[in-house]
Amino acid sequence: MAGGCVYSREDGYGDDAGNGDGDGGDGVSTSSQWKEKQQEEREKPTRPCTDFDMAYFNFYSHVGIHEEMIKDRIRTESYRNAIFQHQNYIAGKVVVDVGCGTGILSIFCAQAGARRVYAVEASDIAVQANKIVKANNLSDKVIVLHGRVEDVEIDEEVDVIVSEWMGYILLYESMLGSVIIARDRWLKPGGLILPSNATLYMALVTHPDRYSGSVDFWRNVYGIDMSAMLPLAKQSAFGEPSVESITAENVLTLPQVGME
Ligand SMILES: C[S@@+](CC[C@H](N)C(=O)[O-])C[C@H]1O[C@@H](n2cnc3c(N)ncnc32)[C@H](O)[C@@H]1O
Repeated sequence: MAGGCVYSREDGYGDDAGNGDGDGGDGVSTSSQWKEKQQEEREKPTRPCTDFDMAYFNFYSHVGIHEEMIKDRIRTESYRNAIFQHQNYIAGKVVVDVGCGTGILSIFCAQAGARRVYAVEASDIAVQANKIVKANNLSDKVIVLHGRVEDVEIDEEVDVIVSEWMGYILLYESMLGSVIIARDRWLKPGGLILPSNATLYMALVTHPDRYSGSVDFWRNVYGIDMSAMLPLAKQSAFGEPSVESITAENVLTLPQVGME
């Protein structure tokens, strides 16, 4: 494994990186052009791990964010449903889970009959993912690779890529690039990517409580007129994107497709 984004490793795992048995050629024809392209991809120098990456992966090493993601039933069950809807394709195949976190999607794939799942995770939560895989007696199928998808080695082609790469407003985390790198490095021609497309809807909203809480607030502070703060408060409140839960009454227009 190359690259410097791995902070620690637990004995007994991760060292299997790239120990696939190389029998990926199960009847799917691979053109020499494709092989050449993959070779080129492998030879490309990988982007070094920046301080930003380190902070990002450190964030994902904490339990809270994984709890929040997994408790989001719409998110987690959508992925599980998609995996089981493709069970006929996944059964007996090789899968890469790009950014496996606790390993939940990798385990769904194993339950759907995948022959082998490479669960790649750069943050230290990979240590827990490996323990979870062991506790569920799936170590023969799910191989946890602790490192960036850009750096780990997998010595076989894969049939399926699964990844939960979507951030706020779809692209916020910029993780899609890593899924594309995984595709170019390992996916067989015609292989399956879950999800393979996404639609971003946008709608106008209003949020009067928030407006009055952070803008109107300055009109009268302990009886003092602090309206001089209004322009700054408006700039600060609406100058940056904000992630909040709102009720349906706050949505002013029908959603429109913003991007596909
Ligand atoms: C949105 S979380 C999804 C976690 C898990 N798949 C789930 O559904 O609960 C994305 C995960 O991908 C990991 N990740 C992001 N970029 C990565 C990369 N280039 N290589 C390996 N892991 C990455 C993050 O550390 C994080 O744990």
